[in-house]
Amino acid sequence: MKVGIIVYSHTGNTWSVAQKLEDALKKAGHSVNMEKVVPVNSNPNSGGPVQLKTAPDVSSYDAIIFASPVQAFSLAPVMKVYLSQISDLTNKKVYCFVTQHLKKAWMGGNHAIKQITSACKEKGTDMKSSGMIHWSATTRETQIDELVNRLSAL
Ligand SMILES: Cc1cc2nc3c(=O)[nH]c(=O)nc-3n(C[C@H](O)[C@H](O)[C@H](O)COP(=O)(O)O)c2cc1C
Repeated sequence: MKVGIIVYSHTGNTWSVAQKLEDALKKAGHSVNMEKVVPVNSNPNSGGPVQLKTAPDVSSYDAIIFASPVQAFSLAPVMKVYLSQISDLTNKKVYCFVTQHLKKAWMGGNHAIKQITSACKEKGTDMKSSGMIHWSATTRETQIDELVNRLSAL
């Protein structure tokens, strides 16, 4: 399967998890591309409207994994704007994960995953599976292993 991992990462946490997932998917025999969503203004606190410098085209992928940090108890605005602009996702298998600093899912992660899920629904497909990494948790590495194992079995 041709898999695209589409990542927005401000400080590198989400990117590092995506790299582990990429390795596992390649070992499982998939063709995998990791692509970055890049904003024009990289300061997440700038407050202005988000404009994208790089917005990966997902049309060639059979399966897509969207990955983003939580920001301000929500999906990072960069990923939100990107998802509103992508092409139709009908007949594509879609997955996602988010990373957040705090240890509780209700401190942004659940909301962010719901936002990705509904953006994908608007583009014609249901979320197959999702995950969340709590960066400050002592169990972080276990969470990453579980996520990578689960999503690489797609
Ligand atoms: C502007 C901003 C807002 C954030 N808001 C939250 C938040 O609401 N809840 C949370 O748990 N972490 C929050 N974080 C922390 C990030 O979600 C966390 O560090 C994440 O792993 C960063 O991923 P990245 O390195 O891929 O950017 C915030 C970080 C930034 C920069």
